[in-house]
Amino acid sequence: MRILTPFSVAVLALASLIGNSQEPAPPQMAPKAQLAAPQVPQTPPMGWNSWNYFADKVDDKGVRDAADQLVSTGMKDAGYIYVNIDDTWEGERDASGVLHANSKFPDMKALADYVHSKGLKIGIYSGPGPKTCARYEGSLGHEEQDAQLYAQWGIDYLKYDLCSFREAVMAKQAPNDKAAQMRLMIAAYDKMGKALKATGRPIVYSLCQYGWDAVWEWAPALGGNLWRTTGDISPHWDRIYAIVSQQAGLESYAGPGHWNDPDMLEVGNGKLTLAENRSHFTLWAILAAPLLAGNDLPNMKPEIKAILTNRDVIAIDQDPLGKQGVRAYSDGEVEVWTRQLSGGALAVAVINVGDSRYETHPFHLNLAKLGLHGPQAGKDLWTGKPITLTDNQPIEIESHDVLLVRIDAPK
Ligand code: GLA
Repeated sequence: MRILTPFSVAVLALASLIGNSQEPAPPQMAPKAQLAAPQVPQTPPMGWNSWNYFADKVDDKGVRDAADQLVSTGMKDAGYIYVNIDDTWEGERDASGVLHANSKFPDMKALADYVHSKGLKIGIYSGPGPKTCARYEGSLGHEEQDAQLYAQWGIDYLKYDLCSFREAVMAKQAPNDKAAQMRLMIAAYDKMGKALKATGRPIVYSLCQYGWDAVWEWAPALGGNLWRTTGDISPHWDRIYAIVSQQAGLESYAGPGHWNDPDMLEVGNGKLTLAENRSHFTLWAILAAPLLAGNDLPNMKPEIKAILTNRDVIAIDQDPLGKQGVRAYSDGEVEVWTRQLSGGALAVAVINVGDSRYETHPFHLNLAKLGLHGPQAGKDLWTGKPITLTDNQPIEIESHDVLLVRIDAPK
């Protein structure tokens, strides 16, 4: 048997959306006793962030446009709720230390109201240092004040980026003492975590410090909902795959309400091929990663929309069991990833991560390595068609493409 996932399957994926009965799983409800505390969604955050495409060009209009597009493209209905402003919105502090947005954002409260009026949520960006990564005003010494300001504006999500805290505080206060530097860093993230909590508003707390000091071990205790595990993503397959390779082994740290963050999506950006966009999105779903689109929404191509709104794949990402997937095995340049899903279901992704279609040829699926026995009936989530996986089945996959199968009753 020969299974190909050709270039044109995005068209079929779009077709599969039309007749799709599988809605994304609803977020897990908090136990009654916890209802008093601010609650944020328990599944990986979904939305859009300005940085990957617009970087310092983001402005009030761009954010409103993104909100409008999330609604009109159906992305909101597919689960993309957060509209996140990244770096370069910050202006100056006034005599009382209150931070004002710069001229690109004339009225942040009005912008938040607009985003909320669309049934969406809004996110913002800062960092524990004196300056952000793009050298705008940071929160050092103003953490409580800034958290209160965000709450007044109606902000629902904060990405907090380490950057200048390294030179300005860590290196200065504890030169040549790495352990002390890490303690300073953790204390800074704790401080903002407490400041956010004190607002009484549910604000998703996103730590961005590139995985330093095994952040996955300590971030949940500080109220972190997600934490970057690596340096920055870029719209190149090699970078995406390098990031993916660094996620294997972190799966035990993810769970409902707290997630490893391999960075925001590059789907639709740069020169990524359709196969690469599909594989990138598949892997983020297998990894239970936040799905923060980072593309130019007003100019999104239909085939990119089809990938970002594939509800079957989104349902893998948003599965309420909250178990991050694992790299089950690799065979040459073909990797097999699996993710356990609620109700005993299983997602299996077979990816050709190499540059050649024939590098590992022929690839034979080894079901025993996945703990499976005998033929497995499932659904190919990129064609929308039924598929049966059998042991020792030869599977040929184009370079950087993927076969993603959901098996509801694995045996
Ligand atoms: C860092 C972060 C990026 C982005 C930029 C903004 O590089 O990792 O995601 O937020 O800063 O300056």
